[in-house]
Amino acid sequence: KSLKNYNTFGIDCKARYFVSVESINELKQVLSEKPAEELFILGGGSNMLLTGDLNSFVLHINLKGTEILKETETEVFVKAMAGENWHSFVQYCISKDFGGLENLSLIPGNIGTAPIQNIGAYGVELKDTFESCNTIEIKTLKEREFTKAECAFNYRNSIFKNEAKGKYIITSVTFRLTKKHHKTSISYGDIQKNLAEKNIEKPTIKDISEAVIAIRQSKLPDPKVLGNSGSFFKNPMIDSETFQEFRRKFPEAPFYEVSPTEFKIPAGWLIEKSGYKGQRFGDAGVHKNQALVLVNYGNATGKEIWQLAMDIQKKVKGMTGIFIEPEVNVF
Ligand code: EPU
Repeated sequence: KSLKNYNTFGIDCKARYFVSVESINELKQVLSEKPAEELFILGGGSNMLLTGDLNSFVLHINLKGTEILKETETEVFVKAMAGENWHSFVQYCISKDFGGLENLSLIPGNIGTAPIQNIGAYGVELKDTFESCNTIEIKTLKEREFTKAECAFNYRNSIFKNEAKGKYIITSVTFRLTKKHHKTSISYGDIQKNLAEKNIEKPTIKDISEAVIAIRQSKLPDPKVLGNSGSFFKNPMIDSETFQEFRRKFPEAPFYEVSPTEFKIPAGWLIEKSGYKGQRFGDAGVHKNQALVLVNYGNATGKEIWQLAMDIQKKVKGMTGIFIEPEVNVF
């Protein structure tokens, strides 16, 4: 089966076997029949690059449903199944006036894969509203809950990219959201600018969501129109010594002081500086409005995208001394 419609890069790779599961029982059934080593777990396909056909058993997690578990005057606990589309869920929360996810509007992908890389945008990360997630351990078929602490969230990172990698399937995520008194986060420059243009002083969560959608649409290509996987690289973190040296060479570079010894540099800036922004090589390219996003103009192969990524990595390292690491999972 072709996976072209199952990865947002739109790479035309084939899977030897493919099955889509719609219930926990179906999922357990498949897991009991197939050896763990042969499985390839597929969610929304929005954070991966396929560089060849998969000789494995692709298991598409298509569990649906949302449920309000518990509600007080000020808070609500909402559970969403792994196969729910991320943005649809965010919109559902906004329509109910449940606050906390508005800054994460329009992020591609599904609920079940969001915790793996602790998705984040515009000053908010998934971990800020994450309560827990349910999983199935692939080897034993046992259900296990992970609390927020157990997930060990970090910038674009969690236990599911480390110790727990490949061992569990996330079946649902529970969020702890606010009611009435929302703690909005609008410190991000682009959001402030957008709200000011509309003369909004006290934004509702809907206003913030709309601002985020407008910002994303102006910079980030829509995967339905132009294949991509969002940010291809992580923003690199460097120590103060490396930072001082970098500053001497590039005094104009933007940066973010994470702590007195850690500085984050926008990879988009580094890539733009290296001359790759807007460049196209066959059907593989670097987006014209956001250099951090690699795009597939139609028929690029995963290998071509990967080659471009490696060329960029090398050029950036050579020019700036900084190593940028892919954010997407490469197979
Ligand atoms: N910049 C450039 N040229 C570019 C792109 C960026 O110079 O082509 C510089 C600018 O100075 C800009 C700064 O980088 O002010 C930051 O750019 P932007 O606000 O677009 O954010 P980002 O750091 O490039 C990160 C996330 C995005 C997220 C935005 C907004 C990572 C790897 N990426 O990008 O996440 O939407 O912040 O919060 O942390 C994703 O993970 O797929 C993703 C899109």
